[in-house]
Amino acid sequence: MANSSSGSATSPAAVPFLDVGACYRELKAEYDAAWHRVMESGRYILGEEVEAFETEFAAACGASHCIGTGNGLESLFLILRGYGIGGGDEVIVPAQTFIATWLAVSHTGARPVAVESHQHGFQMDPARVVAAITGRTRAILAVHLYGEPSNMDALREIAARGNLRLIEDAAQAHGARWCGRPAGGLGDAAGFSFYPSKNLGAFGDGGAVVTNDRQLAEAVRRLRNYGALGKSDHDICGYNSRLDSLQAALLRVRLRHLEEWNARRRALARMYRKGLAGTRCVLPVVAEGAEPCWHVFAIRHPDREQLRSFLQARGVETAIHYPVPPHLSPAYAGLGYRRGDFPLAERWADTVLSLPMGPHVDDAAAERVMEAVRAFESAHA
Ligand SMILES: Cc1ncc(COP(=O)(O)O)c(C=O)c1O
Repeated sequence: MANSSSGSATSPAAVPFLDVGACYRELKAEYDAAWHRVMESGRYILGEEVEAFETEFAAACGASHCIGTGNGLESLFLILRGYGIGGGDEVIVPAQTFIATWLAVSHTGARPVAVESHQHGFQMDPARVVAAITGRTRAILAVHLYGEPSNMDALREIAARGNLRLIEDAAQAHGARWCGRPAGGLGDAAGFSFYPSKNLGAFGDGGAVVTNDRQLAEAVRRLRNYGALGKSDHDICGYNSRLDSLQAALLRVRLRHLEEWNARRRALARMYRKGLAGTRCVLPVVAEGAEPCWHVFAIRHPDREQLRSFLQARGVETAIHYPVPPHLSPAYAGLGYRRGDFPLAERWADTVLSLPMGPHVDDAAAERVMEAVRAFESAHA
């Protein structure tokens, strides 16, 4: 399950995994004003709302350019295409990530080359990245998985030494920071997703490319719009991957609340850390310098399936990000990877469990989650 916008409005869970509808309800007046404005404007794709959002989101990321796109997968794909990456090239990707990271690479014709995380964390291990570089490597695609930034200083140094592009998959990292600097401005370019369940979620699909690279920004602007900047200057063979005005207007509303809602997620993460210490839950290890935005709070547990069923029976909804690592997915059978090739990613897939997380999980709900976990631990001591 990649995206977890379900399970709220229709779920009977006392503590839903994520209540996306609550985000609308809290800001209903602002959202309603925004969509009325767009409906009255007569401009529904790109246009002023998208340009305004692009300016505001670039500033939030500390970057000079933002280009709204159709979704996160296409944002990553357009960056790779913009850098001319394609058949015969290799791109380094994490072994543990959502499959879209790999798909963005495959769709260019390049080969995703998987690298494992640290022994105790979820982000790519820079030492393993170095070992995976070959003469064909063109880029490192670092994923800020679960909203925890990768070690961008180490990766930038490796990329510079190898003359490689460093690209952020920031689909889960809106407002996350590495050494005080926001995700999106930490590499050559970053791809964001605005899928509704994201920290900065739209009400449909949406994405953005963020970069300080003016040439790449122009290439992506063309690629997203049939290869043209205007109506008919089709200088290259492009695609159709544009952000629509309605999503941009709604995202502008939500962007104003991103910091406050991320602060709530951080408080919740602190509560979980304190309340679950001493249980068999392996809590996320955050690297020094990383300030996660806690898109997902993923614990690991040796009896993950039993714990999950126990919690479900007590009305606590959880999710698994992700049960099948891309190298074991049938979609990638052609790459020739086997079970055992990436033991850490496989172990994570078998043991991770995402607890309810979001700006609308209040203290009482968090207590209920932790009580249920502790009850499981007592019953299985
Ligand atoms: C790490 C990661 N990369 C890329 C994507 C793709 O984003 P989208 O669903 O907007 O295409 C996602 C979406 O869940 C993601 O989690």
